[in-house]
Amino acid sequence: MSLPSSLTLGSLRVDTPVVLAPMAGITNAAYRRLCAEQGAGLYVCEMITSRGLVEGDQHTRDMLVFDELETTRSVQLYGTDPVYVGKAAEILCAEYGVAHIDLNFGCPVPKVTRKGGGGALPWKRGLLGRILEHAVAAAAPYDVPVTMKTRKGIDEDHLTYLDAGRIAQEAGAAAIALHGRTVAQAYSGEADWGAIGELAASVDIPVLGNGDIWEAADAVRMVEQTGAAGVVVGRGCLGRPWLFRDLAAAFGGEEVKTLPTLGEVAAMMRRHAELLCQHMGEERGCKEFRKHVSWYLKGFAAGGEMRRSLGLVDSLAALDALLADLDVDEPFPASELGAPRGRQGSPRSKVVLPEGWLDETDGLGCVLTEDADAGSGG
Ligand SMILES: Cc1cc2nc3c(=O)[nH]c(=O)nc-3n(C[C@H](O)[C@H](O)[C@H](O)COP(=O)(O)O)c2cc1C
Repeated sequence: MSLPSSLTLGSLRVDTPVVLAPMAGITNAAYRRLCAEQGAGLYVCEMITSRGLVEGDQHTRDMLVFDELETTRSVQLYGTDPVYVGKAAEILCAEYGVAHIDLNFGCPVPKVTRKGGGGALPWKRGLLGRILEHAVAAAAPYDVPVTMKTRKGIDEDHLTYLDAGRIAQEAGAAAIALHGRTVAQAYSGEADWGAIGELAASVDIPVLGNGDIWEAADAVRMVEQTGAAGVVVGRGCLGRPWLFRDLAAAFGGEEVKTLPTLGEVAAMMRRHAELLCQHMGEERGCKEFRKHVSWYLKGFAAGGEMRRSLGLVDSLAALDALLADLDVDEPFPASELGAPRGRQGSPRSKVVLPEGWLDETDGLGCVLTEDADAGSGG
């Protein structure tokens, strides 16, 4: 099978079939720019809520920041009310000039599933279709493709992905991304690429495969095994934005495995911090940067004191002073290659759902209360 060299989402063409997974608290304008500097792809903004956007919530508006070089604006939207989602899609197209809207139907966070949102929603097939239709109709006059991102289902006894694929296609979605885990699994265990293959075989729209891509070779293997049109990469690029260089090369038919020395990693850390500070100001930018330190240094010998100090960094000057003490020649730790990173956690014994949620599968009569700030995504 020949590898896809690009990705087509409706009117949008992405030069390499690689999507940065939306990750709350991570995929802000600075991080998207940092990754885009490495290679082509579609770089999706953190999730924002439809209600927050429609009601003019300041926090939501503040998240809709784009880098000056970000020519393809891509945003993930959360919502449970078709009317709100439609209005939010319209705002994103008309006021923010987005080129792609992704809808979140995969979030496993109890605060979200308790209200029937995120990964709980596809159980209500009628409601899912209605939300997609409203988003697609609102975005159509702007020629903006709408995609959905989902999981296999609520748990192994309540799978929804094949229905979701059919519904997405019927509603006019441009693609469906599948994270090969159930909500109950959260981030534990292994992603089921077999389900991605099954979905790809059952729909005509592009399927994007997601889950457990740690190296470019994994992405190639996933596409070869599943027939997916492209991949969505999340945790694998935490502290490793150069993975997008390797991914772009891989889909261009070249095998590249970037193995930066600690000095090169330090330069990437500096660039990341600098971009965060440009977008958020130095104080907040440095604070945001702290959460990335352990991912960048994973597997390197840098000692506890150095890690602690970097985890408290409060200015670019302080960062420079600390980075200057690193052993620039230390080679990249080979033990980290192919190894999981980021959250993994354990499976949930029970997914929190609205009362009686599983009793019927349509949901068009449901009145769901939607937070303006749905929180941590996923
Ligand atoms: C910190 C973090 C935040 C996330 N936030 C979101 C989100 O807002 N929306 C979403 O659809 N998925 C979110 N996810 C899930 C990822 O997009 C992705 O589906 C998941 O991590 C599996 O892919 P991976 O194995 O490549 O990490 C999040 C994941 C992480 C680790």
